[in-house]
Amino acid sequence: MTVEKQTSLINLTPLNWFNILTAWRVAKNIFKKEARDILICYSGSLLPRWIWPKTNRDTISKLSYFIAIKDKQPIGITGLYTIHNQSEEVWVDWFGLDTKLRSRGLGKEIMVATINMARKNGYKYLRLWTTTNDHQSIAANYLYQKLGFIAQETALKSYGFPVLIYSLGLIGITPLPYEADITTTIAGAYSNLKSRNSIFRILFRLYFKQ
Ligand SMILES: CC(C)(COP(=O)(O)OP(=O)(O)OC[C@H]1O[C@@H](n2cnc3c(N)ncnc32)[C@H](O)[C@@H]1OP(=O)(O)O)[C@@H](O)C(=O)NCCC(=O)NCCS
Repeated sequence: MTVEKQTSLINLTPLNWFNILTAWRVAKNIFKKEARDILICYSGSLLPRWIWPKTNRDTISKLSYFIAIKDKQPIGITGLYTIHNQSEEVWVDWFGLDTKLRSRGLGKEIMVATINMARKNGYKYLRLWTTTNDHQSIAANYLYQKLGFIAQETALKSYGFPVLIYSLGLIGITPLPYEADITTTIAGAYSNLKSRNSIFRILFRLYFKQ
C-alpha cells in the first residue's frame, strides 16, 4: 500500500501548558540523553517568539509539537517545524514511540499520522534529518525508507555519525533534494536552544526547577 492510502488511528494532540509534562514524560522515555533539550524545545514552542534566541527566530517560522494518543493513552511524540522562506516544506521534529511499545507497527502509525497532518496543512514535502549507524536509528532509517522517504547524504555529523536528510513528496511528486544549507537549518533549529546562557535555559530552570 502506498503512503497516500494509509490511515492512522493515532490522534495527534497539540502540546499545551496542561499536557507538557505528560509529553515530556513520554519524550524522556524515548530520548534519554536529550530530555533537557526536548523540554526546552517544548516550552519554547509555547512561549512568545520574541523570547526565542535570535538564531532560532531567524530560522524557524512555525514550530508545533504533538503527543501521539492511542486508545486514550499517550504512546509517542512528534513535531513539525518550518524554515523561513521554505514555505512548501515542513520538517519532522522529536518523533518517537515509547520503548515498551516498539516493533508492533505503532511507530509507523505515528509517522503516517504526521505525514497526513503535513499533507492536510498543504505542504508539498515532508523532510527530516537523522543519523546512521547508531543502533537506535536502525529502526527509524528502515521505517523512513519503507514509507517512501528518499535519503540524501550530508557532510554533517551528529554524535559522530553521518547526518542524512530524508524527504517525502506529499502530493504525488518526487521530492526535490534539499538545496538550502543544512548546517544553518540544523544549527538554527537547535544550537541556541542548547546554549547554556539562553533565556530558555534560565526560564527552564526557574519553571521546571531542573
Ligand atoms: C523509530 C521508531 C518510532 C519505530 O517504531 P516501531 O513501532 O518500533 O516500528 P514499527 O513496528 O512501526 O516498524 C516499522 C518498520 O520498521 C521495521 N523495523 C522496526 N524495528 C526494526 C529494527 N530494529 N530493524 C529493522 N527493521 C525494523 C519493522 O519491521 C517495520 O517494517 P514492516 O512494515 O516491513 O514490518 C522507534 O524505534 C523509536 O521510537 N525509536 C527511537 C526514536 C527515534 O529513533 N526516532 C527517530 C529519530 S529521527
